[in-house]
Amino acid sequence: MRVFGRWRKNSNNIPVSEFDGNRRYSKPTIGQKRSLFDGIVGFDDVKELFDMSIMADKPVHLLLVGPPASAKSLFMSSLTKLERSYYVVGSSSTKSGIFDYLFEYRPRYFIIDEIEKMNKRDQTSLLNLMESGILSELKHNQKRSTQLKTWVYASCNSTEKLLPPLLTRFRDMHFKPYTEEEFVNIAVEILDREEGLDRDVATIIAEAVFDRLKSTNIRECIRIARLTHGDIDVSKLDKILQTFAKYRAGTDKTEQA
Ligand SMILES: Nc1ncnc2c1ncn2[C@@H]1O[C@H](COP(=O)(O)OP(=O)(O)OP(=O)(O)O)[C@@H](O)[C@H]1O
Ligand SMILES: [Mg+2]
Repeated sequence: MRVFGRWRKNSNNIPVSEFDGNRRYSKPTIGQKRSLFDGIVGFDDVKELFDMSIMADKPVHLLLVGPPASAKSLFMSSLTKLERSYYVVGSSSTKSGIFDYLFEYRPRYFIIDEIEKMNKRDQTSLLNLMESGILSELKHNQKRSTQLKTWVYASCNSTEKLLPPLLTRFRDMHFKPYTEEEFVNIAVEILDREEGLDRDVATIIAEAVFDRLKSTNIRECIRIARLTHGDIDVSKLDKILQTFAKYRAGTDKTEQA
């Protein structure tokens, strides 16, 4: 099974064979970075911090921690637009681990979604790399080691399963659940832009999800928009919300036991 989702190559990328741990790589241009986070509503301060980290001469590693549907994966996938970025989902572990991939592809930006699901061995591989830029491994009494200048950007729901020494190598940014105002604004923007809904209808859906489902998960709004094709009336919305509420987690007796 392949761990890595993407190794971005384009005409500006330096071929792997020319990578050298000591050389200075070209930085992304301003134009590139401006368009990085286009799809994400809000979080201007976080976007700015990423921009600063991307433009820094030496790595500053960033970790996003937050509840479901708080745009963490959106940030991670936006970062894959960077040249020489390498994307991995922490849950797709392999026997050989991440070492071989890092050694071979030498990414400048290593992007790890759901890093809490990464096994301990892979987490350990990152420690030296993040601290000193040295990637080293002892296998069958043979040591392999290389210098690598890599920024690590990651996301997770919780830091509980992260090795403490790994956590301290990141600046961890904790996203809070959206307030009602943030939630409605983002939901309306997404339903308008991605699902083609009228903004008034989108507002009704977002407010209903917030009030009746007590949820700030934008995915609920998207589901309702799709179920109704945006052709919403009060009774239809009411019916969907009732059904969602009736079968929500925790309503099954075997779950509660
Ligand atoms: N700030 C935002 N801007 C744009 N879309 C957003 C924002 N917040 C949430 N969304 C919407 O929520 C959906 C889920 O976002 P995303 O996959 O990034 O969540 P996540 O934080 O990675 O959640 P999980 O922890 O469940 O993986 C997106 O597809 C998008 O429609
Ligand atoms: Mg996610």
